[in-house]
Amino acid sequence: PITPLVDPFLRPISYLRVSVTDRCDFRCVYCMSENMSFLPKKELLTLEELDRLCSAFVGLGVEKLRITGGEPLVRRDIMTFFGAMTRHLDSGALKELTLTTNGSQLERFAQPLWDAGVRRVNISLDTLDEQKFADITRWGRLPQVLRGIDAAQAVGMRVKLNAVALKGFNEDELFSMTEWCAKRGIDLTWIEVMPMGDIGNEDRLGQYWKLSDVRAKLAEQYTLTDLPESTGGPARYVRLEETGQKIGFITPLTHNFCESCNRVRLTCTGELFMCLGQEDNADLRAPLRNHPGTDAPLEEAIRAAILRKPKGHDFDYSRQSVDGRVSRHMSHTGG
Ligand code: GTP
Ligand code: 5AD
Ligand code: SF4
Repeated sequence: PITPLVDPFLRPISYLRVSVTDRCDFRCVYCMSENMSFLPKKELLTLEELDRLCSAFVGLGVEKLRITGGEPLVRRDIMTFFGAMTRHLDSGALKELTLTTNGSQLERFAQPLWDAGVRRVNISLDTLDEQKFADITRWGRLPQVLRGIDAAQAVGMRVKLNAVALKGFNEDELFSMTEWCAKRGIDLTWIEVMPMGDIGNEDRLGQYWKLSDVRAKLAEQYTLTDLPESTGGPARYVRLEETGQKIGFITPLTHNFCESCNRVRLTCTGELFMCLGQEDNADLRAPLRNHPGTDAPLEEAIRAAILRKPKGHDFDYSRQSVDGRVSRHMSHTGG
């Protein structure tokens, strides 16, 4: 029996998020600048290396793997990697293999993902208006994403939408998005915009739409029932009694959920970030590459890193300024 990964605050770490590429086919304005420069491809871990790393985490007790990016489905041959992870589902060691995607390639990938064992997918979608969608992603096409959602549902996957709550942008779509999701049996989670990446011209404070306000607004039209914590993640869920659907709130700013954090994040170059909102990271590439024959040094490096996990993030807008900023892009650690 293995000793599970437990951090200094006695939080068991059972969830690994893996960014398999920093590239994305969109440039969401709150995430990347238009001329974002990406890593040279040769710096990325190979799919074999990603397999070895993820397998080491599964060996250490990680039960949930979420593949992210950037956009994970733009990485060449990514299905080879998903296919390789299926063996951990088959052995029972891994309870869930899933991904967070912008949906642009899902029409093509829904079936192979299902075949690899993916049963649930989180899709980032901030608006259902074609023009607004093109604006916020800088050039994305909404119908393509909608076809991806249809394809995922058609193969039987559960779909959750993630929408970043942005004042003056999707405020007016709260009810229309809720209804759209209700009709399709889709859960919807709102996320407070976090101060990450090169904020540049972005007015984070001006855009910041508190989720306590979103909740209050929803309560004007629906009966909200709080649901007990379920995914062990940061989202708090309510059920809308009138529609039966779940609405989630991810509130790094208004309500800190760090005390129940269960996750760490691996970048596409093999750094392990112990917290989304902190800069500290551990290099796992060296123990991986320097010891091709044995995983012992890698496992040791992982255990040592977990012991450095901080108590929480420092994101804070409460002083009417953007504090606790992290210059790293969300795509680097996969959100
Ligand atoms: P479920 O498995 O559906 O619970 O998903 P999840 O919430 O773990 O993953 P998802 O990729 O849907 O997360 C949505 C977004 O929530 C992320 O992209 C981040 O923006 C934010 N988020 C997730 N985990 C954390 C976290 O640990 N800290 C902070 N500050 N934000 C997080
Ligand atoms: N604040 C909050 N959420 C963000 N995302 C990207 N950047 C930010 C940010 N600054 C979201 C994306 C996607 C997920 C991976 O992270 O919209 O849903
Ligand atoms: Fe965990 Fe860091 Fe996220 Fe807090 S911000 S929930 S400590 S990863």
